[in-house]
Order: sequence, then C-alpha cells, then structure tokens
Amino acid sequence: MNTPIELARRLATKAQRIVFFTGAGMSADSGVPTFRDALTGLWAQYDPLQLATPQAFARDPKLVWDFYEYRRDIVRNCAPNAGHRAIAALEGNGREVTVITQNVDGYHQLAGSREVLCLHGNIMEDRCHHGCPGVFPATKPEDPNAPVPPVCATCGRRTVRPNVVWFGETLDEAVLERARAAVENCGLIVVIGTSGVVYPAAGLADTALGLGKRFIEINPEPSQWSREADVSLRGRASEILPQILTTTE
Ligand code: OAD
Repeated sequence: MNTPIELARRLATKAQRIVFFTGAGMSADSGVPTFRDALTGLWAQYDPLQLATPQAFARDPKLVWDFYEYRRDIVRNCAPNAGHRAIAALEGNGREVTVITQNVDGYHQLAGSREVLCLHGNIMEDRCHHGCPGVFPATKPEDPNAPVPPVCATCGRRTVRPNVVWFGETLDEAVLERARAAVENCGLIVVIGTSGVVYPAAGLADTALGLGKRFIEINPEPSQWSREADVSLRGRASEILPQILTTTE
C-alpha cells in the first residue's frame, strides 16, 4: 500500500540531486513566527510596509531597527528543529543536496547544511546602509547609549542595516542564478512551509513544475502547487521530514 509518506520516501531515496526550497513554515516548529499565518504571523500583527522597506527605514530607522532586534532575539532564543537536521543529515551520503531558503534565520546552516542559498539574506548579519563593502555579524552594542541604528565601523559616518532583502528591493542576482541552476539540475524538489506568494522566490517552484521535476510539498495548508505535486503532504516540516529522509539508504 503506497501511502503518501511512503511514496515521498521512495522519491527521496531515489533522487541523486535534491533541492529543498523552504519558507517560514520550516522554522515554525522552532518557535520562529511565520509571516502570513493568521494568528501568529508577523504580518498579521505588524504592517510590513511600515517595517520592512527602504522607505520605512529612511522614515524611522530606530523603529525598523528595533523591529529587527525583536526578531533577532527570537532567532537567538530558538534553534533549528528536527526538520533542519534531517535535511542536513542527508548531505553526508554522496547526494547532491541544495537548500534554497527564503528564511533569514540561518537555521539551515546552523543545523549543518553546507550548500544553502539565502534568497532573502540573513537577519543575523549587518551591512553599511550606504554601501561600504562586506557584511558582519549583528551584535548588540556594549554601550547602552550607542546610537540606534549603530554606525558603520568601516566608514564611521553612516548607519548599518540588517543584511536582508526588503520589499521593493531586488534579490542578489548571483544567488538567484545559482538557485535556478540547482532547480534545473535537480531530480527532485521538496517545497516546505511557504505560502508561495512572494516572487521571484516562488517562481523557482513554478520552474521545477514546468520542467517536470519530481515534486514533494510539505505544508499543513494546500498551496498553488498542491494539485500538480507528485506528493502533497499535509503536516508539519519537523515531523514529516525525518519520516521521509532519515530512512533513506
Ligand atoms: P508565510 O508566512 O507567507 O507562509 C508560511 C507557510 O508555512 C504557510 O503556507 C503555512 O501554512 C506554512 N506552515 C506553517 N507552519 C508550518 C509547519 N510547522 N511546517 C510546514 N509548513 C508550515 O512565509 P513564506 O512563504 O516563507 O520575504 O513568506 C515568503 C516571504 O514573505 C518571506 O521570505 C518574507 C515575507 O515577506 C522577505 O523577507 C523578503
């Protein structure tokens, strides 16, 4: 009897090149709020256009900075879950595994995944708001009277900003190109915990379907891909991923 879980497990076992395309639902079981979930989602409580755009930061840099500090504290106090670990464990046995994530929490890397493409940046990093090269770990200033946002250590004149993509900003084209190549070369894509409403990221799953890639979806809710997916698993990433990945040879 082929249950959906058994079918998904078989697809995962057979595939040599697997892409995991993840969204906020991947970290929901770690305790990190998603964006659009009705009750717990960030965007249900706050207006993203007031907090996650270059205009919002120009208008009120301290408000936006404090919002990201609030989210950073959540990320610092939570941890990768069994789903992140199941994906990372797969890399050990000669498969080509690429994680393409919309998440900015760095949990895939913390869990041990090595090939992680962060489409929307990393909330635990800062960069100069006016373009000094490089990014650096986001740290809490020692001095309680330090300016908020902090001043860039490189130029000493301008403020820093979180190293994330805001609404209205473009993604890093090189990262997106690598993500597209990974989707084109994979045998299987596993789409986990995303509402699929933000492009160009969600376009990667559309591309996989268009290329006829084997397609597994993991989400408690249906999505625009559910009907065409080979397997659409209704459930939580931290529970389902260990069931379909850790038993593979
Ligand atoms: P959303 O909050 O839009 O969607 C979260 C998805 O996760 C929903 O489809 C939920 O049903 C699902 N979900 C909830 N709990 C889950 C669980 N335990 N296991 C699996 N799935 C679960 O988050 P994203 O789709 O990631 O953009 O949002 C995409 C982008 O919109 C984000 O990257 C962010 C946001 O604006 C930027 O930061 C640029």
